[in-house]
Amino acid sequence: MTIQSGVLLEHTKAAIYLEADITDLSAIAQACKTFCEKLAAFQAQYAEANLGAVVAFGDRVWKQLAGAQSAVELKPFSTLGKGDLSAPATQNDLLIHIQSLRPDVNFSVAQAALAAFGAAIEVKQEIHGFRWIEDRDLTGFIDGTENPQGDARATVGTIAEGEDAGGSYVFTQRYEHNLPKWAKLSDEKQENVIGRTKPDSVELEDVPETSHVGRVDVKENGKGLKILRQSLPYGLASGTNGLFFIAYCATLYNIEQQLLSMFGERDGKTDRLLGFTKAVTGSYYFAPSLEKLKNL
Ligand code: HEM
Ligand code: MG
Repeated sequence: MTIQSGVLLEHTKAAIYLEADITDLSAIAQACKTFCEKLAAFQAQYAEANLGAVVAFGDRVWKQLAGAQSAVELKPFSTLGKGDLSAPATQNDLLIHIQSLRPDVNFSVAQAALAAFGAAIEVKQEIHGFRWIEDRDLTGFIDGTENPQGDARATVGTIAEGEDAGGSYVFTQRYEHNLPKWAKLSDEKQENVIGRTKPDSVELEDVPETSHVGRVDVKENGKGLKILRQSLPYGLASGTNGLFFIAYCATLYNIEQQLLSMFGERDGKTDRLLGFTKAVTGSYYFAPSLEKLKNL
């Protein structure tokens, strides 16, 4: 089974994240085939662009497209936490994630996707992410240090065998940062919020329990629950900006445990980072293998 080309990519420079609802399910199988063909043509034309894309589906449509035996862990994302510190659910039916070294090529691929899916979908969110200096999030901290590398990316990010081999569970969550508030903290205080040093991303000797790393470095029976992140910063210098968070995993469980821990649903403690950024969207999806996507 072939993993979709956008899942494991490393060192890309830009991404487009499109989320949509499906209005005509009967057109989706053909649209996926058409999109896969167009994507392959772009990959051949711009071989140096390291172009990849992923098409993934929400629970409402996936069972109808693929049957109940696929992606048994898949469910709609539901709101976590309370008030200002909550993770709202804005579950959509379809995710198209495009990434490469070239924002210009990504734009053409997004246009091709919209042409392929046409009136069968209604776009709910389109975010253009960019790799910032030194892989930093707009908080100024390096993002991705503990991300799996090399072969570990597939082990962590995709299902190895069975019905769903080559597939992944996916979670998307757009965050809006409050950078003026963040900038009022000294570097040392910011480091205590993240749990790592700012210049070079070294884990603090005593990682605070309510720091971001303290919340998401969840262990069970001594083993870390790993996920593969493909998030990028997005937005305007003068306006709304933040992180478009996206993670791939062989099991939805790992992603969910980290979220429960961040949003106070594991032990009542919340991630201090949430005082400086706010989740505004959230959806779970399943990305099938390329073969399955082409043969829905
Ligand atoms: C680590 C930023 C949301 C999961 C980190 C690090 C930073 C960071 C700076 C440390 C460097 C690294 O290892 O990558 C952010 C920001 C977020 C955000 C700015 C939102 C605005 C999330 C969410 C999850 C998550 C929603 C999970 C659902 C992780 C994991 C690590 C990590 C698993 C590695 C922890 C470790 O094992 O040390 N994040 N993150 N992050 N983050 Fe986030
Ligand atoms: Mg760690």
